[in-house]
Amino acid sequence: MADSFQVPGGFLPAVREVVGTAHCLEDPDLKASYETDWTRRFGGPSLVVIRPADTAQVARVLALCNRFGVGVVPQGGNTGLVGGSVPRNGEAVLSLGRLDHVLSCDATDGLIVAEAGTTLATAQKAAAQVHAELGIDIAARDSATLGGMVATNAGGVHVIRHGPMRARLGGVEVVLSDGTVATRLSGLVKDNVGYDLAQIMAGSEGTLGVVTKVALHLVPIPRFRVAALVALRGTPPTPGDPGAAVRAVTEAAVSLAARLRAEVDGIDALELVFAEGMALVREALGLPAPPDPGAAAWLLVEASGGSDPTGMLADALEGAPGVTEIAVADEAAARARLWAYRERHTEAIATLGVAHKLDVTLPAGELAGFAGAVGPEIAAVLGRGRSETRVVLFGHVGDGNLHVNVVGPDDDDHRADDAVFGMVIARGGSISAEHGVGIAKLDFVAAARSAGDLTVMRRVKDALDPEGILNPGVLLPPLATG
Ligand code: FAD
Ligand code: MLT
Ligand code: ZN
Repeated sequence: MADSFQVPGGFLPAVREVVGTAHCLEDPDLKASYETDWTRRFGGPSLVVIRPADTAQVARVLALCNRFGVGVVPQGGNTGLVGGSVPRNGEAVLSLGRLDHVLSCDATDGLIVAEAGTTLATAQKAAAQVHAELGIDIAARDSATLGGMVATNAGGVHVIRHGPMRARLGGVEVVLSDGTVATRLSGLVKDNVGYDLAQIMAGSEGTLGVVTKVALHLVPIPRFRVAALVALRGTPPTPGDPGAAVRAVTEAAVSLAARLRAEVDGIDALELVFAEGMALVREALGLPAPPDPGAAAWLLVEASGGSDPTGMLADALEGAPGVTEIAVADEAAARARLWAYRERHTEAIATLGVAHKLDVTLPAGELAGFAGAVGPEIAAVLGRGRSETRVVLFGHVGDGNLHVNVVGPDDDDHRADDAVFGMVIARGGSISAEHGVGIAKLDFVAAARSAGDLTVMRRVKDALDPEGILNPGVLLPPLATG
């Protein structure tokens, strides 16, 4: 509903002039898919959706937004889970979807350079053609874009081997709020000439600049790769201690993960799912029975290298405490079948309703205690029964990252969110492991960062976006007044 906002006179005609009328979307039906996020929890009407074709158009559009004082929400694949990719107060959405070309991909340089709207899957295919990989993977690969992944510093399932998006970056091209274009795409591993443009952009969530090109380091495709889904035994319920069973099996999973890392070369992934999530994913998506369908949890481990890791993996799992059954796969389709139990949790949870998606990291020693306590704590703060609230846990146990999904509370009921983030901070963890802050976690940023840290963040923001047009309201909490 563009006409319900104050459109600065002359702004829309000037934008149409730059991108063409067909790419300046004002019709509510055409704008709708850009205005609600993947979770369906966040969103609002936009002033206009602008779809530039290239860096030059992005620069001209941003210069106009800056001049007319129009807030801009950069958007890639709109798979973000914290409300940062959609308008909140009638901003303009700047969709990078048309900047989707792979510009170069070279195994000798070990570098791929692509436009920011290129999806992860497209970049992965380009890398495969030169027998390489990106070293980063997330289940939203078909929609998530490289620009969005830089802006959120995306993590995913291979962080324990290759790091998050910021560790994969060989450079970026960025357009600043006034239309200035800054390009550094060399991919040089050693290049110490001052501030690192790419690292400043990583995790900036569209608040500092619009990423228009991304350079990523490649890794060779390993000769051998094996995945195993390892079922872990449950314990009987403990009267008066509702979290005991989850605590015990998480403890077993954390110990097993540490054992596997110590004994198996080339571990790529260590992922954990619990009985509740496994039942849901099977029911919602019709997946067949996993190894030991009655287990309390499953650890998905993947390893790869120049020699076959299967023997080492089997030796490490032999006699490991708590393990009941194991399914092993080395061929790609069979591995994908094991991964489906883990990867498809997000879509299975979405079938229950709108989830409060709380993405947190705990120190390894705190993970089991937190996992056991979080469900009972949420039930206590909501004062509701299990049938009214579903809490589904899963995550990247190898790096301490748990995804706490709470379905039941209204979208704007923050009690469960507040309780979970409070528990995390008290245990020395992080309120955002890999999804970012967006608007979902704003209230906890001040508790998660020191006053000095926040001052640095605000000064960087003021320097790069003095008019405050880029993703206003995201990431940085408002300054306390009075
Ligand atoms: P969007 O959702 O469009 O935007 C996300 C943020 O980046 C917003 O703040 C936006 O303003 C900003 N932004 C987007 N493009 C640009 C740009 N070109 N320049 C500047 N700012 C920009 N995340 C993980 O970390 N790990 C996972 O394992 C993971 N798995 C997922 C699985 C599923 C099924 C889904 C739905 C999501 C998952 N995510 C995961 C979350 C999401 O995919 C990531 O946050 C991803 O990086 C978002 O990319 P996007 O292109 O969709 O960005
Ligand atoms: C995942 O690891 O699958 C994602 O981060 C998505 C989610 O949290 O649902
Ligand atoms: Zn994740």
